[in-house]
Amino acid sequence: MKEAISLLFQSLSTGGLTLRNRFMRSATWLAGADAETGALTEGLLGRYGELAMGGLGLLATGYSYISRDGKGAFRQWGLHDDRRTADVRRLAEVVHGGGAKLMIQIVHAGAMRHPSTVGAGRLLSPSGGAIRGGGGLSEAATESDIARILEDFAAAARRAREGGADAVQIHGAHGYLLTQFFSPLHNRRDDGWGGSFEGRSRLFLEVFRAVRAEVGRDFPLWFKLSLSEEVEGGYDAEEGLRLALLLAQAGVDGIEVSGGTGYSTAERAESRIGVTRGESEAYFAESAKRLRAQAPRDCAVALVGGLRSLERMAELLEGGVCDLFSMSRPLIAEPDLVNRWFEDDLSPSACVSCNACFKTAERGLIDCPVMRDKDEGIWDPVPES
Ligand SMILES: Cc1cc2nc3c(=O)[nH]c(=O)nc-3n(C[C@H](O)[C@H](O)[C@H](O)COP(=O)(O)O)c2cc1C
Ligand code: SF4
Repeated sequence: MKEAISLLFQSLSTGGLTLRNRFMRSATWLAGADAETGALTEGLLGRYGELAMGGLGLLATGYSYISRDGKGAFRQWGLHDDRRTADVRRLAEVVHGGGAKLMIQIVHAGAMRHPSTVGAGRLLSPSGGAIRGGGGLSEAATESDIARILEDFAAAARRAREGGADAVQIHGAHGYLLTQFFSPLHNRRDDGWGGSFEGRSRLFLEVFRAVRAEVGRDFPLWFKLSLSEEVEGGYDAEEGLRLALLLAQAGVDGIEVSGGTGYSTAERAESRIGVTRGESEAYFAESAKRLRAQAPRDCAVALVGGLRSLERMAELLEGGVCDLFSMSRPLIAEPDLVNRWFEDDLSPSACVSCNACFKTAERGLIDCPVMRDKDEGIWDPVPES
């Protein structure tokens, strides 16, 4: 086991990137951007610097919107405008300065827009109507909306590349526009963008082609995918795997395996509560294992969702489940977690998977109230073993 743990810390080349280790920071919205312009702020930039200094191999940014109507969250940062390329430059400087590689996540939220996001324009979805947890009644996207969305994805990716990012990740998970198009529950179209598996997966492929044409073959393009929608009437793990393989065969450089959506129940959502060391860790491992076994070797497979201990990650690596280990909440709790592990404190993440961090966005910038209480000596979240 000790040997397998040390493998986690060795450098590798995968998914078009050379990384100092196998630890990835999964895309995590931290709020903190300018509410009106979507510009990065000093506070947000400082958090990225702190994360990069914490020892990660690869750092994915929180989702950045590709157009005003693609915005999904309060104080989200935007890559919808050429003026934002300068933000990528600053991000690249701090992230590279910390020794990590920078991946920019881009998104169109579709109808999954938080109701607090004012002034973001039309609310679009595949077939109109409301979705649970979304921003209200949406309009069905027209052919010309779809054509413009393809251009917006391509332009955002171009800004990421021009700003010096190492890769782009297209957000195809968690119930945002791409998931909505793939979902038999939300996509009731009877034109070429709906119906069969081919129709529902078409937007994924067209976005990939449009972005690839803009940034070129040598720039790493990844997807984050929910391999199962985890909702009654949604797509299942078989269709999710088929979609992932379709993208991998089309030339996608890497896939981060997630699951669930913002409209799934708490037990089936992407950020599950109550994860404890052992069995409940790595709750999407089975999906990643099936993908790793069938995808072309040069397509990297990262796993996210409840990774908390080095023992479990080493076991997954030995089992050939994935190439990279991606974490979100553990790095909100401890941005320097990888260095802590590297420096020999091998105890699992202090994150107790309570999701209280989501609520802290209201204060401007997300943080971990549990660790804050710990730092103030109120209590210790890591029980004595
Ligand atoms: C505060 C918060 C913000 C998140 N923002 C994003 C995001 O911008 N993009 C994304 O793909 N996933 C986002 N996620 C989901 C995480 O990246 C991750 O998939 C999920 O939390 C499970 O991983 P974990 O158990 O390591 O937290 C967010 C999660 C949290 C807790
Ligand atoms: S509030 Fe802290 S302990 Fe709770 S899930 Fe978020 S990061 Fe983890």
